[in-house]
Amino acid sequence: MALRKIAVEELSSDQAVEELAALAAEIAEHDRHYHQEDAPVISDADYDALRRRNEAIELRYPDLVREDSPSKSVGATPSEKFGKVRHAVAMLSLGNAFDADDVADFDKTIRRFLSLGDDAALAFTAEPKIDGLSISLRYEAGELVMAATRGDGAEGENVTANVRTINEIPKTVAASDFPDVFEVRGEIYLSHQDFADINEKQSKAGGKVFANPRNAAAGSLRQLDSSITASRPLRFFAYAWGEAGNLPGDTQMGVLEAFQRWGFPVNQLTEVCDNVDGLLAHYAEIERQRAELGYDIDGVVYKVNRLDYQDRLGFRSRTPRWAVAHKFAAEKAMTILEDIEIQVGRTGALTPVARLKPVTVGGVVVSNATLHNEDEIERKGIRIGDTVVVQRAGDVIPQVVEFVADKRPEDAEPFVFPKVCPACGSHAVRDVNEKTGKVDAVRRCTGGLICPAQRVERLKHFVSRNAFDIEGLGDKVIVEFYHDGLIQSPQDIFSLEVRDQKSLKRLKDREGWGETSVRNLFAAIDERRTIGLDRFLYALGIRHVGETTGRVLARSYGTLEALRFAMLEAAADRDGEAFADLNNIDGIGTTVADALAEFFGEPHNLKVFDELCEHLTVTALEAVDTGSPVSGKTIVFTGALERMSRDEAKAMAERLGAKVSGSVSKKTDLVVAGPGAGSKLKKAAELGIEVIDEDDWFVRVGQD
Ligand code: IVH
Repeated sequence: MALRKIAVEELSSDQAVEELAALAAEIAEHDRHYHQEDAPVISDADYDALRRRNEAIELRYPDLVREDSPSKSVGATPSEKFGKVRHAVAMLSLGNAFDADDVADFDKTIRRFLSLGDDAALAFTAEPKIDGLSISLRYEAGELVMAATRGDGAEGENVTANVRTINEIPKTVAASDFPDVFEVRGEIYLSHQDFADINEKQSKAGGKVFANPRNAAAGSLRQLDSSITASRPLRFFAYAWGEAGNLPGDTQMGVLEAFQRWGFPVNQLTEVCDNVDGLLAHYAEIERQRAELGYDIDGVVYKVNRLDYQDRLGFRSRTPRWAVAHKFAAEKAMTILEDIEIQVGRTGALTPVARLKPVTVGGVVVSNATLHNEDEIERKGIRIGDTVVVQRAGDVIPQVVEFVADKRPEDAEPFVFPKVCPACGSHAVRDVNEKTGKVDAVRRCTGGLICPAQRVERLKHFVSRNAFDIEGLGDKVIVEFYHDGLIQSPQDIFSLEVRDQKSLKRLKDREGWGETSVRNLFAAIDERRTIGLDRFLYALGIRHVGETTGRVLARSYGTLEALRFAMLEAAADRDGEAFADLNNIDGIGTTVADALAEFFGEPHNLKVFDELCEHLTVTALEAVDTGSPVSGKTIVFTGALERMSRDEAKAMAERLGAKVSGSVSKKTDLVVAGPGAGSKLKKAAELGIEVIDEDDWFVRVGQD
């Protein structure tokens, strides 16, 4: 293969695309030999050389990194091989706490939410955070009927056959109080000893070794051949639940005790603590025992013990309010800073990346680390050639902490941050925040849509899963089409078919394409010509407008036309009513409002926006019909509430499908007023809007 002989530095971007595709296929093939047949066909060294080449090309062409790149895989069988399972109750992740102050804040925020005074009892469980992979086990009539990985939280992979081979997981539960339908959730992991044994066996067979027990557990569970999983001594701890007919207790600890009675392993270091001091003491105790546990843990998880409190506290978009992971301090290592490269992100931010002499930190080889921004490099005084301390904290990107002064080479020069964008040559500037007068930490390329780095990244974002999600138009195809001039701007996606019909160089004749795949692509694009306003807004990649903000905006403005009109008004006059309305929306702060005004105030953007809209039918966000009496209604809470805090009231109303607004207007359906309500009550009366008190509210929503 001629391409394989070309040095990485010499590869053109077209060649790199081809080579990355070939490497992905070859490495996947070797992984198959290795994982499924336990019979590698090349030596470990040759296999590593392929992966290193893949990595080196990706380093040089970060834009070309494939969705299926071997550098992204943990050595497991690709997930498409398993059936998908939609979780009856989403599998969420946990917020983090890093020090005692964060833990105190966790307690304080909960007390505020629940309107509990400082002296009121509020107990928590504290248990090790197991560094494995989470699993949901569904039992019906006492039989294990389904085991699913977390996946993206909403949908996981069906790994039932493999999980059945795990001894520590009961296949049937006979207890008389075991509900008819029950999902036990917990962590699958490997002990240090079993991990070492597996690696020894692998390396004796000339195979690849796993980087750490977590990867080995994941690789072992996601085998197509269950007999391989069966040969790996996977273990399990139960710590949570999903769909549950009824619960065997009214506290977290009570449920864990039932788990234990039912035959599930429960971590014996779990304890109930009465207050923050108790949590911190137990954290210290678990940390002291960490090295002797025989399995990896990366922190301690605290959960509110009372389940009625857990219910009231509910969830933020991805994490529960009633639990937090208190992480152990980061692991550190020393290495040499070989270079500082500047990457340009989707929003034009120039980010310095440290290229490091590869070093193992906490069991993982690290060769890149973030340096955050220009000031950070200056503040830390880091120079190329320095010996630096690198740290990894949990799954956070590795960071350069500091340099080692007495190891600095004599010729090391201070780093000069570029003032032009390395991707397009446009000036790169640091904004001054109008309000604070402070200079932004981030230097940004001013090239906007002419900057290739931003364009490609914006396009990738545009078609990403939670945005337009066009099947067959993933990162790799976007990059290819971009480089070939087929898609330069989002609206080009929707004119692709028409242009293709007129073109001499038809898509169907491209390498890797054919009639069917092109037809499928066009069908997939057509399918997305109708899209919800929330997704559309998110897809535009406006700074600070993520999915949640997209939804808030869609809910508030209703239609595309109303939104466009309001945004133009807001952009034209920041002191005007439209900007104030935008700023007043619950969940939108000045930063977001400013970012929207800036976006819509820029003619380039408006042009793209309007051209896109010509191709699309943008639909209003459908109100979530929760079937509750307040579903789809706009509600204002005012005055002092006595049975719940304002945050709790808001979360409760939203859970029931209502919108919560901070001010009374024609659009308000209902005002819930407590003692001391003033002007809002008056306004409601003027507008003839229904007003009820807090007790009525609980009756109305059937929770009295
Ligand atoms: S509770 C809704 N408890 O950590 C909350 N998670 O960083 C459910 N994990 O996805 C999670 N040990 O995979 C919980 N004792 C423990 C845990 C634990 C490990 C994992 C779990 C979760 C991740 C969040």
